[in-house]
Amino acid sequence: MSAIFAHRGWSARHPEMTRAAYRAAIEWAASTGEELGLECDVQFSADDQLVCLHDQNLQRTAGLPDRPVDLTVAQLKRLDFGSWVRVSPEPEERELVTLAELLGMTAQARADGVDVTLAIETKHPNPRALDVEDRLAAMLRALGWHHAGSPVRLITFDLDGVERLGRLLPHVPRTLLLRRDLTPWWDAELPAGVRAVGVDLTLLRRDPGFVEHMLHRGCEVHAYTVNHPDDVRFLRDLGVTGFTTDCPPEVCEVLAEQ
Ligand code: G3P
Ligand code: CA
Repeated sequence: MSAIFAHRGWSARHPEMTRAAYRAAIEWAASTGEELGLECDVQFSADDQLVCLHDQNLQRTAGLPDRPVDLTVAQLKRLDFGSWVRVSPEPEERELVTLAELLGMTAQARADGVDVTLAIETKHPNPRALDVEDRLAAMLRALGWHHAGSPVRLITFDLDGVERLGRLLPHVPRTLLLRRDLTPWWDAELPAGVRAVGVDLTLLRRDPGFVEHMLHRGCEVHAYTVNHPDDVRFLRDLGVTGFTTDCPPEVCEVLAEQ
């Protein structure tokens, strides 16, 4: 059974990482009974809160040149993160969410019986050297989500970061993200406790044998960002165990094909 992760929420339908994108993903999971991971990227705001944003500046998503790290959550909340997409939800649904809010949405959905989990990706070294791993550990411990069976998965491209997360949160599953070149990873030892890699779809198109090789090594292989049905079929046939996608229903539909 493969895992599906809603990349930045249901971001093919709603502006990425807004309340609307996550609400839509949760509602889809609720209506279908499918298990769904919600994916987000986190970085610090000026007032040291973790907020869900991908880019290092706000140009693409909110039309401003500023960096998230230079604005407070209150200032970020006043921005419109949805005006740039064609089909835009109501203004109050177009605001960014903080990680605390997204953890709350996840907890509420689970309490309502919806089978959702949360994949949190640490992004961009903090210019003020704030420690994102320490903060995550504190937030997850406060929720009791640091034990085995936690509904959270921690993902990152940062090798040092994944090791720090392993020391702070040894029972929370971790995914090391790979990009650019798979060559060194065929035989490289993975950081202690890492049992999953997340791989750029284009690298798996180039190097499909990598999937079977890693599965033999006892490592799950998740692919990102998989939106086209042909790519889903290709990866499914390779045995990929996780699909990160902007459109979860389409991936689910292809995976259900006989
Ligand atoms: O799930 C991994 C994927 O999100 C990594 O790429 O740039 O979308 O964060 P990016
Ligand atoms: Ca991401």
